[in-house]
Amino acid sequence: MNTSRPRQDPTFSPQPDVSGLLRHLDACVSPAHAVDYCGTQLRLAGFQEVSFSKLGSALPNCGFIAESGLLLAWDNSSKNFSHFRIVGAHSDSPCLKVKPLPDAGNFGWRQIGVEIYGGILSNSWLDRDLGIAGRVVLSDHSVTLVRINEAVARIPQLAIHLDRDVNERGLILDKQIHLMPIWGLGDSTEGYFKEWLSSKIGIGSTQIASWDLGLYDLTPASLLGSDSSLIASGRLDNQVSCWAAIEGLIAAKTRGDNSTNCSVVALFDHEEVGSQSTHGAGGPRLQWLLESLNAGNERSFQEVLSASHCISADNAHAVHPNYPERHDPQHRPLPNQGPVLKSNANQRYATSPESAAVFIESCAAAEVPYQHFVSKNTMPCGSTIGPITSTQLGISTVDVGVAQLSMHSARELCGALDPLLFTRTLAHYFIA
Ligand code: CO
Repeated sequence: MNTSRPRQDPTFSPQPDVSGLLRHLDACVSPAHAVDYCGTQLRLAGFQEVSFSKLGSALPNCGFIAESGLLLAWDNSSKNFSHFRIVGAHSDSPCLKVKPLPDAGNFGWRQIGVEIYGGILSNSWLDRDLGIAGRVVLSDHSVTLVRINEAVARIPQLAIHLDRDVNERGLILDKQIHLMPIWGLGDSTEGYFKEWLSSKIGIGSTQIASWDLGLYDLTPASLLGSDSSLIASGRLDNQVSCWAAIEGLIAAKTRGDNSTNCSVVALFDHEEVGSQSTHGAGGPRLQWLLESLNAGNERSFQEVLSASHCISADNAHAVHPNYPERHDPQHRPLPNQGPVLKSNANQRYATSPESAAVFIESCAAAEVPYQHFVSKNTMPCGSTIGPITSTQLGISTVDVGVAQLSMHSARELCGALDPLLFTRTLAHYFIA
């Protein structure tokens, strides 16, 4: 167990800016866009990009690897570091993904065949103007980031006149039939989507080998409320954590840290579908990196891992004023009251008393309050990357995150202060 204490450093007071978060949310419309945007921020801060194939060679002190929806970044102050301080988050959000053969339609309406990715709140995708973003792989295996930031598609809700008792009965949407977006008029000729896509990218359609494209709400992120105390946006889960992790890492580097740790940020893809993939938390890539970083260290890998600590950062459920009974009465997180420490005796969260104590120390060092969340006994508990990382690497892990409402809606809501408090906490965590 790591016994180093966060130093109370009054001169270290990072001041993250909410406008930076709004820019991040608007830029990160797919996992690949999130990784690309975070990579740009790291490059500007002096981190050097390398590829997975270079992991066997000497690594720069400050570097990052960006591949698909996975980003790994590190700040290694000393070759003989004593422990890792890791913040893990996920780059993906529930959405609608474009199928390989998406050309569909009925009665003269042209439609796109989509597959449901993760646990979406289906109703939240209705009557929104949707763009398309993600990765297109070309026949020479190169990858192109694609973002068509236009009102391309929409899923229209059935009119009340044709669904008279919907408000009493509740809205029931068949995921195969009722969530198929309309994107114009015409027939469903096979190849139409690919032709359209290639014209948007400016290449021949035969050059497109495959894609990973999702629909996203075009509405930009916005401050909300009479006092602008809230943020409304798509993908708050989990871009808030991605932003806080990267900003915290950059702030800690800027301070000119002389601690003996090696700080690491891991943004994983595929958390919303169970993390079992090459670029998910269940894959081997983080371990590849940690082993490479430890090469040349006089301490053994096991010695360093035993002294290490990981924060699994993912948003938490704030208490909803219209549904307070959904929370345990003593564990009802509120917006703008600080990050939420998530515990579950059945290990759906990785938090242990020891791993919690490290996070509480970082909050104290950053002068940030924190809150507790435990799900109600009659309510199944969610999970996140924490238990996977801690099981794979044997590193003491704590699950924490910013409180929000409408999790997995196409447009979610959180406090505007919490992401800043969380960023400050993570910056202090990295310097200890
Ligand atoms: Co999440």
